[in-house]
Amino acid sequence: MSDQQHPIVESAPGKLYLAGEYAILTPGNPALLMAVNRGVTAQLTLHSGRSGHLTSSLYPGKSVTWERGDDGQLHASGDVTDFSFAWKAIEVADRYARQLGCAPQMFSVALSSTLDASDGRKFGLGSSAAVVVACVKAILRVYGLEADSLTVYKIAACAHWLVQGNGSLGDVAASSVGGFLVYQSVDRAWLSDRLTKLPLTRVVAAQWPCLRLRSVRVNPNIRVMVGWTGKPASTEKLVARQQSHSGASFDEHAFTHESAVAVGHAVRALEDGDFAGVAAAVEKNRDLLHRLAQAKSLPIEIPVMTKAIQASQRLGAVAKSSGAGGGDCLIAFYRAASGVDCSSQLRTAWKNIGIIPIDLTVSTANHVADVQVQTASTESTHITPCHMNARQKRKEEHLRLAQQLYSSSRHTDFDAVHLVRPTLPEMRVEDVTLATDFFGTRVALPIMINAMTGGTAHSTQINIRLARAAAACHIPIAFGSASIVAQDPDALDGFLAARRAAGKTPVVINVNPSTPSSTLMLLIERCHPSAIQIHVNAVQEIVMPEGDRDFRWIDDIRRLKQCAEKYGCPVIVKEVGFGFDRASIHRLCALGVQYIDCAGAGGTNFAAIENVRNHQEDWSWLTGCGLSTVQSLLNARLESSSSKLTVIASGGIRNPLDMLKSFALGASFIGVSGVILHQLLSADTLDEGQRSVEKLIQTWGKQLARLCAVYSVAEPSRRTHIPVWLSGDVKEYWDAARADFPLTAD
Ligand code: FNR
Repeated sequence: MSDQQHPIVESAPGKLYLAGEYAILTPGNPALLMAVNRGVTAQLTLHSGRSGHLTSSLYPGKSVTWERGDDGQLHASGDVTDFSFAWKAIEVADRYARQLGCAPQMFSVALSSTLDASDGRKFGLGSSAAVVVACVKAILRVYGLEADSLTVYKIAACAHWLVQGNGSLGDVAASSVGGFLVYQSVDRAWLSDRLTKLPLTRVVAAQWPCLRLRSVRVNPNIRVMVGWTGKPASTEKLVARQQSHSGASFDEHAFTHESAVAVGHAVRALEDGDFAGVAAAVEKNRDLLHRLAQAKSLPIEIPVMTKAIQASQRLGAVAKSSGAGGGDCLIAFYRAASGVDCSSQLRTAWKNIGIIPIDLTVSTANHVADVQVQTASTESTHITPCHMNARQKRKEEHLRLAQQLYSSSRHTDFDAVHLVRPTLPEMRVEDVTLATDFFGTRVALPIMINAMTGGTAHSTQINIRLARAAAACHIPIAFGSASIVAQDPDALDGFLAARRAAGKTPVVINVNPSTPSSTLMLLIERCHPSAIQIHVNAVQEIVMPEGDRDFRWIDDIRRLKQCAEKYGCPVIVKEVGFGFDRASIHRLCALGVQYIDCAGAGGTNFAAIENVRNHQEDWSWLTGCGLSTVQSLLNARLESSSSKLTVIASGGIRNPLDMLKSFALGASFIGVSGVILHQLLSADTLDEGQRSVEKLIQTWGKQLARLCAVYSVAEPSRRTHIPVWLSGDVKEYWDAARADFPLTAD
């Protein structure tokens, strides 16, 4: 058994409700939560054994063991009662990864927690949610899946719901996002229904009705102190009681409405540092909870809490019970502006009453700008507005899923390409020339931002930021398919706006083969591209329920090429992540095509993306389809000896070393999509994302120049002559390709 050297360690914080508890149970109603600086840690060890084990510091001597069945699923043996949340999280996250096409792994998980008191008594900080989130994060990492907080929340919420079947999942949101946050619960009836009907990846990829997550930046002049009654309360039981009790005289609608208003006021006041506003909102919230407690006979604010709240008020603070009440935690807000800090008096007063102050502060946050599923915003990265037509929705889903499925740690065929490094390079970094010609324009680097999006308001915003980044770095940019202009002439405006943003930097216009010649002419006349890309994407189309089924493209490529040539515009034929075989390159060369963008497998995977979008059929088995970028470059190399072919290497390019390897295999230019999109969309705003893209490209430029000097390459976009050797499958592929694939059926 070969054990992994360094275990994967992931943590998730516990939570406290600051306002809006109970009302949060009504879908669409908000609550304000604080994730705390105590939590659960999952330590995952990858190994090659047959079975995995789950242990926890909370249950010394106990464990759960699982094996993988023939169906690929993890199956636990024995009693999982003490570990029900952790086990479900592991099983669900593992299933999610496999549905995305990841190869099954075996691992063991050890949990530890700082959520409870040292004597084991519970503070009530939501340990089940923290356990689930920590396990989900660890499993996603073992599969190399980089998920944002929203995705982590969704997977964890599925697991938590499958075990508990009630609650708002606000604790899962706090554990996933961290910091202070406003949370609006998903419609749980919808979630229950989808979990029984759809594969997990589809549930996670769907828009979750009513869900909202937003990080809140609390003004540092307002502080929070937490006290503990020493008496645990069962949120689960109180929630069940609240929901079952008829409460004849209680106006549920007024309660939820007033609670939502109070939460809104509390958030604004906390962000503005307006203590009087915070105090008023907290008092309102407390008053609402009193009404609820009376109507439903719930022991929300027990007498010791009332005493501590009154003592806090006398000291200029404001306090309330937190969460289910009936025990557990008390929370106070106080001013921390200069000269006004009552924290030490608060502590003493609480201790005298019998409330134990606990050393809790807010956890660090994975800032979430605003994920609001019901309404649109051009700045948010995770929104698929309801008013869009099918094509526009598809564009939005491609962006969202490309980001969601993005993984920075994947292995690719580039790992099997080895460059022989001269120990004596005899070159200076300043001797390296990265500037090169791109269809007649001198650009700073042999790297382009490759085709991704366009044709909707949101995608135009993205294209504008990418175009500005390309212009700032003076590298070319290709916009995503503009064929949409044939059906929706208004979409041209978005491409023109992005074109303007690119300024003098070269732009490439991308179309599909069936684009009418008139549309191509319009695009050339209005956008002045340096080249046209015609994308060929058979694998993507077959996984799309609404996709094309006719892949006879040669005539269309000839037609579009003739059309573009009338404008002196060169044509690049491009895949979208499944690469080029030798015969197809040969056919294109015979047609007079001089430029191909190999867009091979290894990076963004449109079989996986479309499979998540396909709600009718499962195509997860096709996600490994395609020729890698390295294989495609080798194919082109075999063809280019007899033709005038220029190759752009793209598909899964991760770093300057992959770039140099591409040049060594014969490429003249590099295209990058997924990494750039991830860089853009990982920032809080698109403007920040643009700056981060610029920084990345500039860093790549510097690193590529130094790398070239080390390998004694003066101008990488011209032939490099670096000796290359291949290992593993790639070597076998190269041998078979050179022998012209003797293993055909005839
Ligand atoms: C793409 N790609 C793409 N390609 C194309 O020719 N026309 C298009 O409209 C699109 N749309 C698109 C959307 C999104 C969101 C992504 C991420 C990608 C494919 C892209 O140009 C590239 O070939 C592949 O993504 C492989 O490169 P990376 O992502 O692995 O660098």
